[in-house]
Amino acid sequence: MDHFLYRNGILHAEDVPLPEIAAEVGTPFYVYSRATLTRHYTLFDEALDGTDHLICYAMKSNSNQAVLKIMGDLGAGMDVVSGGEYRRARAAGVPGERIVFSGVGKTGEEMRLALEGGIRQFNVESEPELALLSGIAESLGMKAPVTIRVNPDVDARTHEKIATGKAENKFGIPISRARQVYAQAAALPGIEVVGIDVHIGSQLTDLEPFEQAYLKVADLTRTLRADGHDIRRLDLGGGLGIPYERSNTAPPLPMEYGALIRRTVGDLGCEIEIEPGRLISGNAGLLVSGVIYVKSGEDRDFLILDAAMNDLIRPAMYGAWHDIVPVKEPEPGGEPAIYDVVGPVCETGDTFAKSRAIAPLSAGDLVAFRSAGAYGAVMSSEYNTRPLIPEVLVDQHQFAVIRARPGFEEIINRDTIPEWL
Ligand code: LLP
Repeated sequence: MDHFLYRNGILHAEDVPLPEIAAEVGTPFYVYSRATLTRHYTLFDEALDGTDHLICYAMKSNSNQAVLKIMGDLGAGMDVVSGGEYRRARAAGVPGERIVFSGVGKTGEEMRLALEGGIRQFNVESEPELALLSGIAESLGMKAPVTIRVNPDVDARTHEKIATGKAENKFGIPISRARQVYAQAAALPGIEVVGIDVHIGSQLTDLEPFEQAYLKVADLTRTLRADGHDIRRLDLGGGLGIPYERSNTAPPLPMEYGALIRRTVGDLGCEIEIEPGRLISGNAGLLVSGVIYVKSGEDRDFLILDAAMNDLIRPAMYGAWHDIVPVKEPEPGGEPAIYDVVGPVCETGDTFAKSRAIAPLSAGDLVAFRSAGAYGAVMSSEYNTRPLIPEVLVDQHQFAVIRARPGFEEIINRDTIPEWL
């Protein structure tokens, strides 16, 4: 459920009509709903009610600091994957003891930043990373709290580019080698082992792969405890999917996911961490765009929008589906038109949808891409020297620009032409 509904024939974000925002900030823009963000966080929190848990929002999905502040104020932790994300989470007021640091390529500099600034745990993904972290922690007179990310060799049944839990993927250490690596970790002077981490992929629409992975983690917990390790925390990753195509997908609900967690690892007495990103931010955001032209081709009509692949890359990159709806509510029972929906960027990959049935539209009309709050703005670029688009946050009847559109001067002045040219 989200808070983007038609009222009096116009799509609203909470209590704000989208044309009102468009008139103020121009199109295209992203708009997020505070109520939806809050609701999604709360669903996870309720799903794990009664277990000792921390929801570490995967900020890679949407890292605007206003969004981070909403999460932080609700009590969320953060899953960060770079020194930049760590800094951003801290700037938004999230305390270090609620931040977990994931990623296969943490640098020594990033480790030092987090150790000095405060960190809940590092999710370590390899032996060389463990050695580097130990050395740095020791040089600071500290012990780094660590979970080791294991690769359970489970097929997440999702898009190949976002599956992470198969043996062939770069993530984690093979679960078959876990005992050996935990023994190494325990012997390192700068490391304190606190638990196990797993994350098998993103946009999972089925609980079964989670179940397979979590049962393996439960077994490993018992084995490692028998080996003498104090496994007291399980980070179960993120990945629960959302219904991008509302007419035909209904992924499991957070409540069912929570029940699965209890069933698989609930009896171990561990503190549970999860790292949801998409489910929290995805359906809490729209990309709103204007129609520049409707162009007739040889055998099809093109809806040419002012948003492009640089603003929302998911369709071009993963062949992803986003529902595209007119901001002005279509007449009930009206005949749809069929469009290839494209942007102005100079490549054919700049296609959002092919043969999409949408109510007939004309130049100047507004459309909204649903489910664009996750991996939308964060993956955008200035390809074709198209400025990053504004992000807007709505809270009931009020809205604010939470990232402004940069001016062309700012963009152009970023380059330096060497004197010797
Ligand atoms: N934890 C770790 C270690 C991750 O790598 C990820 C996502 C998450 C948590 C959050 O997963 P979520 O709950 O959002 O599924 N750009 C792609 C998605 C990449 C996901 C990368 N890792 C897309 O647009 O579909």
